[in-house]
Amino acid sequence: MDRSWLSAAEEALLLVPGPTPVPGRVLRAQARAMMNHRAPAFRKLLRAVTDGLQWCFGTASDPLILTASGTGGLEAALVNTLSPGDRVLAVISGAFGQRFADIAAAYGAVVDRLEVPWGQAADVAAVAERLDGSQQAVLCTLNETSTGVVNPVQQIAALCRERGPLCLVDAISGLMATPLEVDAWGVDVAVAGSQKAFMIPPGLCFVTMSDRAWQAQRTATMPRFYFDLAAAAKTLAKGENPWTPAVSLVYALFDALEVIEDEGPAAMLARHARLRDGVRAGLRSLGLRLLAADDVASPAVTAVFPPDGLPADELRKHLRERYRCELAGGQGPLKGALMRVGHLGYVQEPAILQGVALLAQALADHGRPVDAAAALQAAREAMSG
Ligand SMILES: Cc1ncc(COP(=O)(O)O)c(C=O)c1O
Repeated sequence: MDRSWLSAAEEALLLVPGPTPVPGRVLRAQARAMMNHRAPAFRKLLRAVTDGLQWCFGTASDPLILTASGTGGLEAALVNTLSPGDRVLAVISGAFGQRFADIAAAYGAVVDRLEVPWGQAADVAAVAERLDGSQQAVLCTLNETSTGVVNPVQQIAALCRERGPLCLVDAISGLMATPLEVDAWGVDVAVAGSQKAFMIPPGLCFVTMSDRAWQAQRTATMPRFYFDLAAAAKTLAKGENPWTPAVSLVYALFDALEVIEDEGPAAMLARHARLRDGVRAGLRSLGLRLLAADDVASPAVTAVFPPDGLPADELRKHLRERYRCELAGGQGPLKGALMRVGHLGYVQEPAILQGVALLAQALADHGRPVDAAAALQAAREAMSG
């Protein structure tokens, strides 16, 4: 059987905003033998990873680990805190803000949509203006992966505390790449995903609940079963999950948390900021236009337009087929219009330089000669500054 497509994919330089590269020790962790998930060793494992997640989120409460991709965590956040007919204000600055709002609507919430132009961050004053006392919750996205923009979640959470509604945060691609302090900021529910900065394969998501969120949970009537967080919290108290957990991914989480601890969360955030600066400097030096302004630019992903007359998806295909370099495409109204360079998780500076060099070569292959050496120099300087 021809398996060349598989090794080509495995060897690719993966610069997409998830799934992100997995460190060797985290990959190997998943080869451990199965253990009984209703026995003392798993209880120790679950306690250890839950403790690790506490400091990742900056919370003294126990984050709950669900076997689902990030979207499952968003669904859990909503169905555990709201009832059909509840009003929510959804702050939508891209495809993922839209998804959060759509899930709420699917479960019967009445959704007020605050639409932010794609590529910009939400304006806190505009959020304040739309809060009229009728909303039970505000939905927002920490790092909008479709545009490469970080939203002012700290200020939105403070506003929610002042005005009453719960603050539900999609931190799926943001956590550990950009600051989030769940307790200190007063975030009620935060959701993160395994395949982003946590450098684990897809399949787990993590959800925090504040005291206010648990209070809301007690009267919330949206239907829930698999994602019933009260069941998750109750079994966690016994060191278990309600359902059969993805044991191999929990092994991976255990090792990934050690990788994060070894680097140190502050150093990890600083590395992401450096990678962002390097990518932006390199792309600009190639003459490319970036979607997000510097002051709101994501440390996890950068959205960049191709040169005029060269379709983004053609350039991405060329990068994949000729140079084994994977970039992500645009989403929603930006589909086909731009490329997204992921730089989160287990990504180091050499990968950024390689990506800039390959993009320079791909542009030259399309008759757009650029100064690759200058772009590399710009990226390198930005990352050392
Ligand atoms: C900000 C954000 N929210 C939600 C999701 C959806 O997560 P998943 O694809 O893991 O369900 C993603 C995935 O890219 C994301 O980046």
